[in-house]
Amino acid sequence: MTESAKQLLLEIKNSGHTPIYVRISRLNPVISKDGLEFNYGGKKIELDGGIVRNLGFISSTEQLMKRFDSLKGLESNGITLINSPDSMFIARDKFNSLMKLKMAKIPVPDTTVVEDPFEVMRLVNEWKDVVIKPVIGSLGLGSVRVSDPDVAFRVAKAILSVNQPVYVQKYINKPERDIRVFVVGTTVLGSIYRVNRSSWKTNVAQGSLTQVLLPNEELQEISLKVVKALKLDYAGIDIVEDEDGSYKVIEVNAAPLWKGFYEATHINPAKYIVEHLIRKIKK
Ligand SMILES: Nc1ncnc2c1ncn2[C@@H]1O[C@H](COP(=O)(O)OP(=O)(O)O)[C@@H](O)[C@H]1O
Ligand SMILES: [Mg+2]
Repeated sequence: MTESAKQLLLEIKNSGHTPIYVRISRLNPVISKDGLEFNYGGKKIELDGGIVRNLGFISSTEQLMKRFDSLKGLESNGITLINSPDSMFIARDKFNSLMKLKMAKIPVPDTTVVEDPFEVMRLVNEWKDVVIKPVIGSLGLGSVRVSDPDVAFRVAKAILSVNQPVYVQKYINKPERDIRVFVVGTTVLGSIYRVNRSSWKTNVAQGSLTQVLLPNEELQEISLKVVKALKLDYAGIDIVEDEDGSYKVIEVNAAPLWKGFYEATHINPAKYIVEHLIRKIKK
């Protein structure tokens, strides 16, 4: 269990409720004569609400459907889930998220998803410097920065050979840092710089140092627009500073970790997330 998940359980307990850690692979929706019920590890389980942290390791479309169906089932039984399964589903998919952001007029880098290695090669010729990332991924793992069309071709071939589409994004020539903004409900909790002098990936998991940043009005406005566009209850938003000084949203995390954020700001998102959930349940 991550430190962030532990803090959530603790906050639920501190607020006078009973926390249960649910592993989604063991949560089974049952259609019975009384309607829809849920079994967990063979026993009936009843919940008031839930904080969905991840869908577990997914290795097939069917497995994804079963887990998603379980969450949708909980929701249709009136159980409040944050983030909602629908918005988690969108946020998991980096391309879908960015499409939605673009439609909401939020600045994002030029981005595409393709299934043809020659097209990837052509894009590198056109965009010069690109990042090829897993469409579903986190912690900076598996992302590569490419400016050589032949390298791009080989990378694309390798990804396509395991039946995955290739997610290609224009590299934004940012300073040695990016910005992580944390939003819960309609409140910007705070933001940090993630500084990395040895890697272009500024994830805390890639060894970045954190630094408190008082979010200016523009950052706040962009971040609140992001959660609204993706209908999220809370999120960690990754933003880079472009050469012309403008901001670009590169990714939205619907189940962010907050170790780095917490250490830098001493703000504990768990407290706010649990408060938000309880408020939503009572409505
Ligand atoms: N288009 C880009 N231009 C510049 N830097 C990028 C770009 N995309 C990603 N990065 C860097 O890589 C890190 C990880 O990318 P991100 O899209 O957030 O994926 P992950 O889910 O792995 O965190 C970012 O925090 C940022 O520092
Ligand atoms: Mg990220």
